[in-house]
Amino acid sequence: MTFIMNPLLYPSIIKHGRQLDFHEFSGRVAPLAFGYPPVHSERFPGLDQGVRRSFRLLQGHNLASLVESMMANLMLLFRKDLLGGRGSWRSGSMYDFCSSVMFEATLLTVYGRAAGGGRHDETPDLQDLFNRFDRMFPLLVAGVPIWLLGRTGAVRERLIRFFLPHRTRRWSGTSRFIAMRSELFEQYDALGDTDKAAHHFAILWASVGNTVPAAFWAMYHLVAHPDALAAVRQELHRVLQIPENLDLREQDITLTKEQLDQLIYMESAVNESLRLSSSSMNIRVVQEDFSMSLEDQRSVAVRRGDVIALFPQSMHMDPEIYQDPETYQYDRFTEDGREKTDFFKDGKPLHYYCMPFGSGSSMCPGRFFAVSEVKQFLSLLLLYLEVELEAEAERARAPVKPDTRRAGLGIQLPDRDVHFRYRPRCPGD
Ligand code: HEM
Repeated sequence: MTFIMNPLLYPSIIKHGRQLDFHEFSGRVAPLAFGYPPVHSERFPGLDQGVRRSFRLLQGHNLASLVESMMANLMLLFRKDLLGGRGSWRSGSMYDFCSSVMFEATLLTVYGRAAGGGRHDETPDLQDLFNRFDRMFPLLVAGVPIWLLGRTGAVRERLIRFFLPHRTRRWSGTSRFIAMRSELFEQYDALGDTDKAAHHFAILWASVGNTVPAAFWAMYHLVAHPDALAAVRQELHRVLQIPENLDLREQDITLTKEQLDQLIYMESAVNESLRLSSSSMNIRVVQEDFSMSLEDQRSVAVRRGDVIALFPQSMHMDPEIYQDPETYQYDRFTEDGREKTDFFKDGKPLHYYCMPFGSGSSMCPGRFFAVSEVKQFLSLLLLYLEVELEAEAERARAPVKPDTRRAGLGIQLPDRDVHFRYRPRCPGD
């Protein structure tokens, strides 16, 4: 495997999408991890292309309805679980908190609400099973057979069963993305109900496996940096034109996609936490012998079957590109109140400088939805709740760091949970 360490060379690699293929790798790994038959097989002509077409429903004008639905679901959870009580402090573990809100809100948004239009009773169990599966995920991707991983096979089976067609058919408000995929799967007699459900389960992993830790890091850094939190909250009130001293406890909030787009400092804060926590590896398998042109008229010969990898984490932590790269700076991706996009290496501008979502043909199709989701979560958090670290419990502990066991596979989990406390904001009291 050849690692490309110079980010100035990334465009040369990414532009060779045809000769440097991502899907050969993912097409091998995903069926093993999620338990469905390979989509490239002759048994399913056109399935792969159909699956790819479905990704469009996560982007462009389709994003607005996803954002709207996510807002309603987040609001439902905030109202039911977080905004009760008479303003007294509640303590919690921050990862658990983010995980329970983001897991359930994403589940409801992507797959729809339960038969009666409400929450799925099984959510806590599903989440527990998901976490057990997720802990084994790096081993599955590394090719360890599932039967060597204790109860992981049984856990995966139970997760898959949740998405069997006779259940999903009864849900309401399902996203167009999942509805289209369900229709697509129905066209293949060779796909059994369990195979269809396994595809849906794979999307559950893709849609929450990284979004939950991303929401955690975005929240953690803001709460640990009160100046950043104050600036982001101020921007939010300004964009929504809500005075900071207004009591919002009885009011539901909606944020449109346009308003989310105007939250420049919040977007920068989210990108900064993604920069610090993401560790995805972009893997390409060479499809034919060829001479790969690099910058400055140089080229290198590559052979069919060679594996080439980009590891953007090394770029994210490069002090030449990011001053004090270990330090969180919520406004690092802003300049004069606007988004900052010029970052340099060796005095040359970088085309790619922050890559938590992969690149080129393997770039995450859910990236716009993911960032919107995290921004929506932060918005409700900052508007409705006062949040702070449990100073006593946290003071004596080492700083939270990314747990490297997931290195190469997306957003890293924290190496420990964080004690914090929260209560509804009541500016007048
Ligand atoms: C912060 C959250 C997220 C991060 C950091 C993230 C990151 C990534 C990365 C790095 C890849 C490419 C994998 C590779 O190159 O090996 C990917 C693929 C993918 N992501 Fe995301 N993702 C996130 C959220 C989402 C969401 C919310 C969805 C859907 C609702 C989603 C759907 C997908 C799908 C379907 C693929 C596979 C694409 C393909 O096979 O070509 N992701 N994601």
